Amino acid sequence: MTPSMANPALASASTGATGTLATPHAVLSRRLQGLAPSPTISWSARAKALARQGANVLDLTLGEPDFDTFPHVKAAAEKAIRDGKTKYTPAGGVPELKQAVCDKFSRENNVEYRPEEIVVCVGGKQALYNVMLALCDPGDEVLVPVPTWPTFAEQIAFVGAVPVHVPLAPDHRLRASDLEGHLTPRTRAVILNSPSNPTGAVMRPEDVRRVTELAISRGIYVVSDETYEHFLYGEAQHLTPAALGPQAKAWTIEVNTVSKTYAMTGWRIGYLAARPEIVSAVDGLMSQTTSNACSIAQWAAIAALSGPQDSVREMVGAFAQRRQRFIDGLHALGFDCAWPDGAFYAYVRVPQAEGGGAGDSTAFATRLMEEGHMATVPGSAFFDEGSLRISYAASQAVLDEALERLRPFAP
Ligand SMILES: Cc1ncc(COP(=O)(O)O)c(C=O)c1O
Repeated sequence: MTPSMANPALASASTGATGTLATPHAVLSRRLQGLAPSPTISWSARAKALARQGANVLDLTLGEPDFDTFPHVKAAAEKAIRDGKTKYTPAGGVPELKQAVCDKFSRENNVEYRPEEIVVCVGGKQALYNVMLALCDPGDEVLVPVPTWPTFAEQIAFVGAVPVHVPLAPDHRLRASDLEGHLTPRTRAVILNSPSNPTGAVMRPEDVRRVTELAISRGIYVVSDETYEHFLYGEAQHLTPAALGPQAKAWTIEVNTVSKTYAMTGWRIGYLAARPEIVSAVDGLMSQTTSNACSIAQWAAIAALSGPQDSVREMVGAFAQRRQRFIDGLHALGFDCAWPDGAFYAYVRVPQAEGGGAGDSTAFATRLMEEGHMATVPGSAFFDEGSLRISYAASQAVLDEALERLRPFAP
């Protein structure tokens, strides 16, 4: 007798019948029922589906440099394979990579960390998720300046905490005064993402200082996602909050990734730096969930962080030229788009609807996709209905073509 014959509930499930199940559970947990998948990834998937039907689609959705991973980084991965670095590593990363991360913080951000203050994770996304799990109890509040990258809010909610939206001024730069009215006894952390995805805005150093001072005075953490720190244009300056002194370092959790800076989105290496209690908790969490990030990718990341940095400068230089030409092109067409000081996104106002009403970003992105065969991400994904994000991390030829396709949709 098979188990399903002995148990009628198993029998109906195994035959696909929809009779009453023995338990009151839905197919999915409540937690997963409430999770909204990444809208940037889903708009990109729509573009790919349209392309599979034969359309020539320009995909400007994802924040992914079109550059290939640099040759010396690939060579380090090949060597790691040849050297048999193909086994489990410590859950929080190999000591050599932790040291390379410490050296990077010292060299680039003027803050000294020790290896026991670093955890290597499966991309910046997992680092952020681990931080939320480490910091938040159900009902805790985390301040999220909006417009925001949707993953912040979704991860906060997923761990049972509450993402509290903090609307930004039209220049999209966070100031301490924006936070004041949103602080409560349940506030646990504030998210900083400078340069910002989606807006490209860069916080002024004095604002980073004031926000960090406010956080210290209230005993809340600054979670500083510095994924785009190298993508800076013009006079913009990047300041790492942890560099502001010992108290600032204690109350800051730095999150970063090699994904964008080194054109390594597929390798899945990110990292965080925090006080040792948080690091050891996240290390334990990794040991019970993913275990280590890919060993080969870790050795590649060491080469990326410790090797020559001229390829990064070349890539950022190329992005600066594309930014200039693309935003100029948008302005020439009549689109309203502020000059982004960092990252690689144009954040465009959706043209007003006929009759003068506010533009509807989802409707506009849908028209661009269906009529213009051009994929973008509507501002609705970033809690900002009136805007549209266009990634200019694409070749010049693609961006020139994108401007042509935008022409019929210009205001
Ligand atoms: C603001 C921000 N943080 C983190 C990440 C995650 O990067 P990773 O690919 O390393 O997970 C991204 C990627 O789009 C991002 O835009």
